[in-house]
Amino acid sequence: MALVIKSKLFQEIIGGLQANPASISPKFFYDELGSTLFQAITHLEEYYPTRVERGIMQSNLSQITQAIALVDVIVELGAGNCEKVRPLLDTISPKQYQALDISVEFLESALADLHDDYPAIDMQAIAADITQELSFPDLQDQKILFFYPGSSIGNFTPPEASCLFSNLARECHGRGGLLIGVDLVKDIHILERAYNDTLGVTAAFNLNALRHLNHLIGSNFSISDWEHYAFFNQSLNRIEMHLRAKSDQLVSWPGGCHLFRAGEMIHTENSYKYSKATFQKILHEAGFTQVTAWTDPESNFLVCFAGFK
Ligand SMILES: C[S@@+](CC[C@H](N)C(=O)[O-])C[C@H]1O[C@@H](n2cnc3c(N)ncnc32)[C@H](O)[C@@H]1O
Repeated sequence: MALVIKSKLFQEIIGGLQANPASISPKFFYDELGSTLFQAITHLEEYYPTRVERGIMQSNLSQITQAIALVDVIVELGAGNCEKVRPLLDTISPKQYQALDISVEFLESALADLHDDYPAIDMQAIAADITQELSFPDLQDQKILFFYPGSSIGNFTPPEASCLFSNLARECHGRGGLLIGVDLVKDIHILERAYNDTLGVTAAFNLNALRHLNHLIGSNFSISDWEHYAFFNQSLNRIEMHLRAKSDQLVSWPGGCHLFRAGEMIHTENSYKYSKATFQKILHEAGFTQVTAWTDPESNFLVCFAGFK
């Protein structure tokens, strides 16, 4: 079974590298180093989303918890360092907290720290790829709050986001709901600055995907021969991150190789930005019947609770 999964992963990665244009899924940013680099990004002055989302949660916590009411379980998607769930654990006190992430070693260590602070809550770290269909048969009788902060929903195309929301609405069985943070469309300079920080941490995070791939598939990407490139694509309302070859690069892996020409790019991430109205509409159309939204004074970021009447 493990071999089948490994070979599926291998095929997915090779398929992306050989596609035209080439791509690497953003999920491959995250090994232990990638998760640590992301955590460093959240401390950067240029990277406003973490700071602004935390501010919205703090300023509106009582309204947010009132909208959610009581739930049995919080299931966090892409939980990372599990820091954002703390105010919810304090106020909602669920019986159980399930943290899902693809970067499972990093998650397990974060969850151990969290459990020390909340010993009465049953906690589980679950290795999962949330781009796949999600199913929670063990939680069928429980009232679930899905928690998806960090605007990672921007990595999905809008139709993929709709599919994920329909999947989650179905798994709620008409109770509980989804608390989600999403980045809003704004001034292009603010957006592009957030993904091109002066310390180069986002560049290192992007380049780490190549290091991770070398480890996963045995490829020989020479990391210093690639550079970070990020810009806002205005027609598609998304930040795009790419890795650009500085010179011709023949990259090999067991059983194959690919020549990337100087200047050729590998597309590593999309981060879609939404308007408040569009995002609320997508949630409604996915099957949630009540959507409440909170934003910061500059309308940079949105936190939504999507539940049921
Ligand atoms: C942008 S970080 C956000 C972390 C945290 N939720 C926050 O708001 O600070 C994205 C998180 O999702 C995880 N992740 C990325 N792609 C994933 C996937 N396909 N399945 C599960 N987890 C994923 C990463 O490992 C990382 O912890």
